[in-house]
Amino acid sequence: MEFVRHLLVFLHLLGMAMLIGTLMLQLKAGQDAPVNKGWLHGSGLQLITGLALMLLAPLTNADYNHMKLGIKLLVLVVIGVLAVLYVTKDKAPKWFSPTAGGLVVLNVGLAVFWT
Ligand code: HEM
Repeated sequence: MEFVRHLLVFLHLLGMAMLIGTLMLQLKAGQDAPVNKGWLHGSGLQLITGLALMLLAPLTNADYNHMKLGIKLLVLVVIGVLAVLYVTKDKAPKWFSPTAGGLVVLNVGLAVFWT
């Protein structure tokens, strides 16, 4: 089971990289660009891997802080909902990149600093 947890953490970290990469692409594309679909893929991957890590905790002998995971889940849901709402629009609102990017960075901070 330890291998499964490592595999999920591996994918979870790639999901984080995907979200940060998407932020870079979004910023590079400029103000008139639509919302990049990477926001959907990255947040979907984080949702699946994060929930799997949490739900498998009894089998992997992991002891997680449930308050922290609940808040990370809430932050991720906000990112996902914003992406779903704006991905079909012609251009991303001005506040989209700083907000979604800031929330991703917030979740990395929660993951690392809140033990
Ligand atoms: C934008 C969304 C997210 C980002 C950027 C993110 C980022 C991270 C990072 C960087 C770590 C590694 C921390 C470390 O090893 O010190 C981590 C671990 C973890 N994350 Fe997330 N996370 C996100 C969403 C979620 C969600 C929604 C859940 C579950 C509800 C979750 C559950 C976990 C768990 C259980 C671990 C610990 C894995 C382990 O070491 O066994 N994450 N996350």
